[in-house]
Amino acid sequence: MQLQNDLLLRAAKGEKVERTPVWLMRQAGRILPEYRAVRESVSGFIELAQTPELAAEVTIQPVDLLGVDAAIIFSDILVIPEAMGLPYEMVEKRGPWFPNTVASEADLKKLRIADGANDLNYVIKAIEITKKNLNGRVPLIGFAGAPWTIFAYMIEGSGSKTFSKARAMLYREPAFSHRLLQMITDSTINYLKAQIEAGADLIQIFDSWAGILGPDQYEEFSLRYISQICDAIQDVPKTVFAKGAFFARESMGKLNCETIGLDWNMGIAESRKFIGPNKTLQGNLDPAALYGSPEQVREATQNMMEQFRGSRHIANLGHGVYPDIDPEMVKVFIQTVKDFR
Ligand code: CP3
Repeated sequence: MQLQNDLLLRAAKGEKVERTPVWLMRQAGRILPEYRAVRESVSGFIELAQTPELAAEVTIQPVDLLGVDAAIIFSDILVIPEAMGLPYEMVEKRGPWFPNTVASEADLKKLRIADGANDLNYVIKAIEITKKNLNGRVPLIGFAGAPWTIFAYMIEGSGSKTFSKARAMLYREPAFSHRLLQMITDSTINYLKAQIEAGADLIQIFDSWAGILGPDQYEEFSLRYISQICDAIQDVPKTVFAKGAFFARESMGKLNCETIGLDWNMGIAESRKFIGPNKTLQGNLDPAALYGSPEQVREATQNMMEQFRGSRHIANLGHGVYPDIDPEMVKVFIQTVKDFR
């Protein structure tokens, strides 16, 4: 199917665009009352994510309601541990929680390498329905967590400020850590290939906990596996977003991917210098900027756009949109990008 709006894909590949494409990380979700209405019709986040028709519906909502240049499939990065044999729960107001974690050889033996098309059939179905219902209006982004971030949740069992259990594991049991990371990587490659087969037009890897590792550990325990994923995925453009990994920008410039996501701590000109001219940069407005007045949001967005001027860029926030942000301010952000020349 020919896309009517392929700005995102052209910008990712460094081709000419009439204007900068824009979407928001975590756009499909809590900021929209229309999402919350669908969410309240089911028992919880997991049921919503596992019901393909509803997942497709909330995936398309921000395209209709906000006017973004891409949809991102409604799911979560934690579907991979579940598909490997480690189920999660989503605790209201607190976030993900794993009844079992990975602490020993015996725990590792219980895990399997996930088969994307079968074990994650509900995501694949949601992608197929979304593609059909989008009817070529905008590209659909598929995604997965980076192996290190998934590892961190599987060892820790929940979110954490320090992820000290996960980091302890890297020091105490490096070989064991590498074995689990490799299993996650193989599962993720299967899963992303199945997403692309089902119609995902671009894929993004979220390394949300990149910033808690030092540079050497980051190379060894995260980038090595992200690099394997980038090399294994050939058919669509790839984006790597490693939150907080300012120290790895030069290395990220060498990955086999088209786009690098920047968070708002990373200077734009300085990031371009580290990463080089041959990648598209995505980001990077501070999500908190959207708490400002319309004039303030406009000014902050224009200021960001000015700094990216003349270079390969996809506009976004520097991390996911916060749940209590007024959708009207999201619209101001989007319109300001669209009007920028
Ligand atoms: O971008 C989108 O809108 C698509 C959907 C999406 C979700 N999670 C849905 C979700 C995406 C891309 C994710 C990615 C994700 N999930 C990441 C990486 C991006 C990032 O923010 O760093 C991470 C670390 C997770 C893990 C996760 N899922 C946490 C920590 C939480 C709880 C805190 C929170 O953000 O709410 C979730 C829950 C979650 N994932 C919700 C949604 C819409 C909220 C739960 C609900 O609606 O009940």
